[in-house]
Amino acid sequence: QKQGYEHFMLKEIHEAAEVVKNTTRGRMIAKEGRVKLGGLEVVLDQIKSLDRLVIVGCGSAYFAGQVGRYMLEEYAGIPVEVELGSEYRYKNNLQTGKTAVLAITQSGETADTLASLRKAKEAGLLTLGIVNTVGSTIARETDAGVHNHAGPEIAVASTKAVISQLTVLVLLTVLIGRENGKLDQKEAAAILEGLEKLPTVIEQYLSDVSDIESVSKKYISYQNAMFIGRKFHAPIADEGALKLKECTYINSQAYAGGELKHGSIALLDKNFPVIAIAPQDDVYEKMVSNIEEAKARSAPTLIITTKADDTIKEIADDVLYVPKVHPILQPIITNI
Ligand code: BG6
Repeated sequence: QKQGYEHFMLKEIHEAAEVVKNTTRGRMIAKEGRVKLGGLEVVLDQIKSLDRLVIVGCGSAYFAGQVGRYMLEEYAGIPVEVELGSEYRYKNNLQTGKTAVLAITQSGETADTLASLRKAKEAGLLTLGIVNTVGSTIARETDAGVHNHAGPEIAVASTKAVISQLTVLVLLTVLIGRENGKLDQKEAAAILEGLEKLPTVIEQYLSDVSDIESVSKKYISYQNAMFIGRKFHAPIADEGALKLKECTYINSQAYAGGELKHGSIALLDKNFPVIAIAPQDDVYEKMVSNIEEAKARSAPTLIITTKADDTIKEIADDVLYVPKVHPILQPIITNI
């Protein structure tokens, strides 16, 4: 049932808080910085001694994997590569050291992700999954894994499943980081305490989206959009561009902020707005420079940021403020 919402996608976006609750339920003791993922218990020894993790996915799941790479490399100190299912299955994947392949998929049936998983199995690698659909082919064929518990996703364009994938990736980061000793307990507790509060933060945020509605009305007439972001928010820019083109048929592209100047900036003019995902973090100043570059090309600028300061208003045409949370959790908020 759509429960009063105009369509399933909107309903599923509004389920984000519930999804975070369901995905984390019974899986963490926040103040101790402890995570328990039952489905990974049997392979925990193998996971903590991994040299490399290869994440495979398609579409939004691939972008969630890209965010996961930033999470795992920054907080769990493990080298991560992220591969598109449609590439991994056909290419020569060189093996070095102890590698596991982690498939991320909402449906658990995406053909390219499944073929990649089977290829990894044939190569003798440990295969893991973050799968929403219980009993799906990928859920059955992986050696071990984590179910998202996001509930069925009816809309084709993934929203709440991405939120749950990012949430599982946070849990996985804390689990691996604590197991391999690269993440100290204090930081782990700070992350998990933030995660515990996240549903309330999301609920409050989604209780009034009038600013998003008015900005959307202003931008509806443009035929193009350029999304930019850095680090955790670079793949969120990709995801934003994918959602926009898939659901509105507006041409949208995404670049990591620093890449804009290497050619694509040529597209920008007064008819080509830039949507910058620039929360107040360690690359905020870098993002501000990118936004200034876009302004110099007369591009309208819409900035998604976390702090109500006036500096940003001077350079941006429009600002959407989102709540500030722990840096590893911030992409969950900007994704919404
Ligand atoms: C698609 C959907 O084609 O499949 C995307 O439009 C989705 O939203 C992608 O991310 C991958 O699906 P899955 O089920 O493997 O996560």
